[in-house]
Formats: sequence, structure tokens, C-alpha cells
Amino acid sequence: MKIAVLPGDGIGPEVTHEAVRVIAALDLGIDLQWAPVGGAAYKAHGHPLPADTLAVAQASDAILFGAVGDPDCDALDRHLRPEQAILGLRKALTLFANLRPAQVFAGLEARSALRPEIAALIDMVIVRELNGDVYFGEKGFRTNAAGEREGYDVMSYSTSEVERIAHVAFRTAQGRKRRVCSVDKANVLETSQLWRDVVIEVARAYPDVAIEHMYVDNAAMQLVKNPGHFDVVLTGNLFGDILSDQASMCVGSIGLLASASLGAHQTAHGTFGLYEPIHGSAPDIAGQGLANPMATILSAAMLLRHSLGLAPAADRIEAAVAAALADGVLSRDLGGNARTTEIGDAVLTRL
Ligand code: IPM
Ligand code: MG
Repeated sequence: MKIAVLPGDGIGPEVTHEAVRVIAALDLGIDLQWAPVGGAAYKAHGHPLPADTLAVAQASDAILFGAVGDPDCDALDRHLRPEQAILGLRKALTLFANLRPAQVFAGLEARSALRPEIAALIDMVIVRELNGDVYFGEKGFRTNAAGEREGYDVMSYSTSEVERIAHVAFRTAQGRKRRVCSVDKANVLETSQLWRDVVIEVARAYPDVAIEHMYVDNAAMQLVKNPGHFDVVLTGNLFGDILSDQASMCVGSIGLLASASLGAHQTAHGTFGLYEPIHGSAPDIAGQGLANPMATILSAAMLLRHSLGLAPAADRIEAAVAAALADGVLSRDLGGNARTTEIGDAVLTRL
């Protein structure tokens, strides 16, 4: 079994280091191969996703990804910016299904931005489409009729793109509380009207799953008003990006949310995928030992479960994380003062 480890920028290497320690401690006979991505790769090799890195990723059973983003690179042409590494991997490897589970950990209810009794009910998975939408449409700058400079990004979804992500959401719901809430903006956008039409069609194949449709502005409101309402949230690339950050603060910190990005490709042990915390590179706290590694450790657990067929090991990691959090091992984002490596140690102890 081979894992490609792509630590990236900012706090990426610190949080990835802790997740790798956890994987190594389980002694699963996994081969790890490191490769540069993001601003770090641009600085060393002139490209955020060097061909060698893509090759390492392609030769693996799964990718453990830290974070990308570097303010030094803000002025570069867009195709050379660090973010293109993650967008490029998702696209090149057809990782179209992004699963972002959000649930409140026992004992952390009061860390939520919401009232504890409301936060306690959170247990959802956001199923975010990852290969289409305004992220990957035609984009550029042009001069309009008035001689003004304008920017544009085309939003679109094809029927098959919506179908395949809808199936993932319904199947995910079948393993949970059997409810899908599809989020769109069909009252304004044709892309969303198509999305809704296709989801309604796909839903017919899943009579055992309840489907509802919600406009994204209302979904943003319901997410803080009554987050316990949601089981599986199915949505597009842009809305999913925004709602998952919002969900993280309902849980308590963006440092707690893991993610799996899956495609159709099967490996010997499961589904090929990329696993990353939903947070970014946090350059403001990089290198200070303040980063919360839990989201990356939980991403490693998802990796073992989905790509390597090692569900018992994944369960053990998740239990160790929950136990450390319940014992008050909290980083600064959660109001504590535990340092990044101390948190890794605490998880290892409980393993
Ligand atoms: C995420 C991130 C990325 C995204 C960025 C880094 C390109 O915000 O994974 O949520 O927008 O998808
Ligand atoms: Mg995001």
C-alpha cells in the first residue's frame, strides 16, 4: 500500500507530520512517498504541481494532502498560484466527490459558535462536487463596452456531472439517516435549475431516501439556526466550499474538519482518493506549533477507511482523537494551549 504525502505550504507540513506519525504508529506496512506541492513546489521547481509530484500521486493508492497557499505567490499568474496544485490534482485525477463530515465532538459543545444545545445536534456530511462549477469554467479579464476592465468566470454543470455526485450523496445517505438536502440557487441560476432537475430525476432511484431542495441563502441560515436538521448536504463546488467553512465554525473550529475527495477509480483495497483538512495554509501561524492537526489526523483516518480498506484502524484513530478532545487536549483555535506536536502525542498515547 502506497500513500503519497504532499505537505504543501504554511501549516501544511506541521499538521501532515502529526498525521504521518499516527499512521506510522499503527504499523500497517504502508509505504510513504513525499512530494512538493503549492508555493513550496513553485519556489523549488517553478510549478505548484510539478509533473514528478503528479506522477507520485498517480502511482499511489491514496494521497495525504496538507494545505496550499502562500502570500508570496499572490501576484503570480493564476496558473502558477499554489491553489492550482489542489485544483489540478482534483481535476487531473477526476476526484469529483468531496465528503466533508461535520459532527460535534463530545465535550466540545461549548466551543461551537452556536449555543451548545443547538451545536450538540450537528451530525452531517457535506457532499461537495469538486470538478465543475464556476471553479473550472472559462475565466478571464476583458474590457467592456464602457471601456472598463471586467473579470468573468463562467458557471456551468452538465447533466452527467450532477448525476454522478447525486448518486454519491444518495448512497452516502443510505448509510446514515437517509435524508439528502440538495442546495442550489435555482431561483436565479440556470446552472442550479439544471442541478435541481437532475437531482429530482436521480432521487427516483432512491425511494428509501428523503430528498429536499433548499436555496443556498436559506441553507446558510438553517445551518446556524437548526444544524441538526441536516444529514447529507448535496451541493456544487462553490456553495460547498462556503457552507463547509461555515459548518466548521458550527462544530467549533476549522481545525477539526477532515475531507475525502473520491473518484471512480478503484485500487486494490478501495477507492482511490485524496485526503485533506478543509482548512488552508494559515500563513499567519505557520511554523509556531499552534496549528491544530486534528483535521489532518482525521483525514488520515478517512484515507485508511476509503482507500486502503482499513476501517478498524480508522475507527481507532477517530476514537483516539475524540478521547484526546474529550480530555481537553485543545489547540489555540479551540481555546486551549496544546501545541501541534503535543496534540499528536496525545492522540498516539490514546491509540
Ligand atoms: C477548500 C479550499 C480550496 C477550494 C482552495 C484552497 C482552492 O478552500 O478545499 O475548501 O476552494 O476548494
Ligand atoms: Mg474552502
